[in-house]
Amino acid sequence: MKRCLNSFKYFLINFYEIIFPLLYHIKISPLEIIIRKDNRPYWLKKLVTKIVKIYVRQFLEPQFDYLGKGGAYFKPSYIKVFGGNVSIDDYPTLIGSKDAHIQFTSWDIGEHKGEIKIGKFCLITPGVRIMSAKSIIIGDACMIAHGAYISDADWHGIYDRAEPVGNTKPVVFEDNVWIGDSAIICKGVTIGKNSIIGAGAVVTKDVPPNSIFAGNPAKLVKTLDDVEFNTRANFLEDPIKLAKEFDALDRYTLGQNSLFGWLKSLVMPDKSN
Ligand SMILES: CC(C)(COP(=O)(O)OP(=O)(O)OC[C@H]1O[C@@H](n2cnc3c(N)ncnc32)[C@H](O)[C@@H]1OP(=O)(O)O)[C@@H](O)C(=O)NCCC(=O)NCCS
Repeated sequence: MKRCLNSFKYFLINFYEIIFPLLYHIKISPLEIIIRKDNRPYWLKKLVTKIVKIYVRQFLEPQFDYLGKGGAYFKPSYIKVFGGNVSIDDYPTLIGSKDAHIQFTSWDIGEHKGEIKIGKFCLITPGVRIMSAKSIIIGDACMIAHGAYISDADWHGIYDRAEPVGNTKPVVFEDNVWIGDSAIICKGVTIGKNSIIGAGAVVTKDVPPNSIFAGNPAKLVKTLDDVEFNTRANFLEDPIKLAKEFDALDRYTLGQNSLFGWLKSLVMPDKSN
């Protein structure tokens, strides 16, 4: 019994002191390799999810003024925070990627003090850069697609190119805003509730609620119907029920995967992987 307890203790020490930093340094990626399908056994996916949770609380959360409860994080080591005054409310979904980091940058220099405040239930995908020297306030249930750039400053003076911040004006997204892939939101823009910014748009002026703006410079291309939207806030309103549903799906899709099959898929993948 004592030997058993000792072995367990050594396992825990090894896990925390050796395996955890190792997983951190190799960015947890070998456990997340997916080729054509997820070949991991169910228990391995659960283990990775637990390690990711520990990583988020240990290394990511301290970088934020506030990081809310109940988030979903993918590859969190590729989520970068520079500077203070950055907060994200409850139930965010943040997706990092090796080739497209999420970056939150808040400057605190001279008279400039940046602030990034993100509401509940927001989705932020790889390559999104949010840079503030003034104030960027994002409402609840907003979705920001891959590679979008949101900034409240020019980052150099128009006539003084040695000036590091330049002109600044606050940026506001009201609730349920959806920013398309690679869109750019410039300083001083307010985007109204439920509005959508098309992929690749450059937004320099305010966008009223319930509208679609697209193009460069972005212009109104459609007005949305005055209906009740199904938002991420609705989708995530019962997180426990949702977690149970996702767990059931994982059991169903990964239940047949074996440790051997997963290892084989890493070193000798074939079309069945
Ligand atoms: C903005 C968007 C959602 C609008 O879709 P839609 O309502 O089906 O729009 P339509 O295709 O009817 O286009 C309406 C008009 O806007 C124009 N338009 C639409 N998207 C545009 C864009 N990204 N850039 C420039 N013009 C665009 C269309 O050419 C069309 O112009 P027309 O009326 O002169 O013919 C869609 O075009 C888009 O950009 N989707 C990408 C979303 C994205 O990035 N998702 C990533 C995952 S979160």
